[in-house]
Amino acid sequence: MSVRRLAEASVQPASFAFNRANAAAAKQWIKKYPKGREQSAIIPLLMIAQEQEGWVTKAAIETISDMLGMPRIRGLEVATFYTQYQLNPVGTRAHIQVCGTTPCMLRGSEALMDVCRSKIHHDQFHTNDKGTLSWEEVECLGACVNAPMVMVFKDTFEDLTPERLAEIIDLYDAGKGASVTPGPQNGRTGSEPASGLTTLKSEKAILKSTRDREAREAARAAKAAPDAIIAAPVPAPAAPAAPGPVAPSKSSRPKTAAPETNPTLKTPSPAKVAPVTENAASVAPPLHSAANANKAAPEVEATPKQRNGPKNRAEPGSAFKAPETKQPAAKPTKKPV
Ligand code: FES
Repeated sequence: MSVRRLAEASVQPASFAFNRANAAAAKQWIKKYPKGREQSAIIPLLMIAQEQEGWVTKAAIETISDMLGMPRIRGLEVATFYTQYQLNPVGTRAHIQVCGTTPCMLRGSEALMDVCRSKIHHDQFHTNDKGTLSWEEVECLGACVNAPMVMVFKDTFEDLTPERLAEIIDLYDAGKGASVTPGPQNGRTGSEPASGLTTLKSEKAILKSTRDREAREAARAAKAAPDAIIAAPVPAPAAPAAPGPVAPSKSSRPKTAAPETNPTLKTPSPAKVAPVTENAASVAPPLHSAANANKAAPEVEATPKQRNGPKNRAEPGSAFKAPETKQPAAKPTKKPV
């Protein structure tokens, strides 16, 4: 993971503005958030700016922060935190993000980075000579199950070998990136076992057994109540109900009559209780002692019993001797033969 800084001033454009289509899209995104929470739209707005410009410029961050009424430093914090925002100009045809986190690293991501070094540039965040390609190492991109993998724009290419990545890079460089099918590159579907499915191999058999079961259930129901089926009145089509406000669901309310969950009880109680009355109604905690710890409350156990426990009594703390103060055992003296 590298330090994320804005690009040098020499490559930063002086200003930024969304084009007409993107300005409408940005407006839609802002509308999705409640009043006063418009700042939450900064993530999608920065992404739209990146798709328009190819990378996130300082001017774009400042313009978007101003649009959302938030301090520019907050906009900078967001843009410099997430690796999906490119803070420097990237390759015009592909920017390859190679996952270097543990599962991908164990499955060969270092070899994929070597391919990027040899085909694009020795250092990440630098474009190749033509300016068409660039690369970087990123943290986990969420496809560890098909490691190692890379991401190009919004597509992931998984189960990669260095040879397959080299082919993909060449296709992007030639402007044929759209012809590469994203996902696993070793022929497996999703994250099934690499050697192919071992169970549920035929969908036909699964569908057939489901249909057979449904047919059997329908036949059993018809046999149990044949008249009901014939005599059942056909319900008249209901008049369309006028749309009205939908009441909030109470399905997650606890089904209990406990005072703690009773919404009609207001807490804290307005009634004031004198400390004397409160103390009289309270039970004094038992005094802590070794004897008390071995007893149950009288209302729980009428006859006190001895609990099972270690019979040996622990040595008092004063009996402890630090190892360094212990005297070495005296050597046995040899008796003259
Ligand atoms: S570790 Fe590479 S995708 Fe998760």
